[in-house]
Amino acid sequence: MSAMHPAAAEPLLPPRPTALAHALLREVIRAGDLVIDATAGNGHDTVFLAMCVGAGGRVLAFDVQAAAIAAARARVMAAGVGERVEFFQESHATMDARAAVGSVAVVMFNLGYLPGDDRRVMTEPGSSLQGLNGAVTLLKIGGVLTVICYPGHPGGAEEASAVVPWFKALATTGWRVARYGTLGTRRPAPFLLLGSKPA
Ligand SMILES: C[S@@+](CC[C@H](N)C(=O)[O-])C[C@H]1O[C@@H](n2cnc3c(N)ncnc32)[C@H](O)[C@@H]1O
Repeated sequence: MSAMHPAAAEPLLPPRPTALAHALLREVIRAGDLVIDATAGNGHDTVFLAMCVGAGGRVLAFDVQAAAIAAARARVMAAGVGERVEFFQESHATMDARAAVGSVAVVMFNLGYLPGDDRRVMTEPGSSLQGLNGAVTLLKIGGVLTVICYPGHPGGAEEASAVVPWFKALATTGWRVARYGTLGTRRPAPFLLLGSKPA
């Protein structure tokens, strides 16, 4: 687990959803895989994915904001994994036009706004659900979809209340789905949704 408690220099438990997503996906992604970062933002997840797929793998990274693409690209270049990543400054809503059906091992969504930037540009329920449907099409059997929701952020509760039922509905089609999050917080805590595509 990468997140450390600042005082104790020990793993932060329970882990943040971002750290938990990385820990779980590290076990799933294989060298040479094709994977998707649906919300590149500052590029932390993009770099994580690029490291996991290795030199023979590929990451497709989406964000609607030029500032996010620039920040993510800079982080990817600094990590020395630039040749593994293709950036698209466009909505993840149309990601299904960018890869073949059933070809993708993992799709990550980290909803909300770009930390440290314009909070008016944030993911929205309509395009998020379109993107999630695209991810379902692109994932291969056994592929994994992760979504981090921020119900404590402005607009985040509405988005979470659209995404959670969509995720639950996947279970009725054979997907194995789960929700992980911290209990007892002052504000609604961010949580991780994870689904595995069935045969
Ligand atoms: C919480 S941030 C992502 C953080 C990022 N994964 C990281 O590791 O730094 C959410 C990002 O989603 C982007 N975004 C908002 N709507 C989008 C859309 N329809 N398609 C793709 N990205 C979108 C925002 O511009 C923002 O950069």
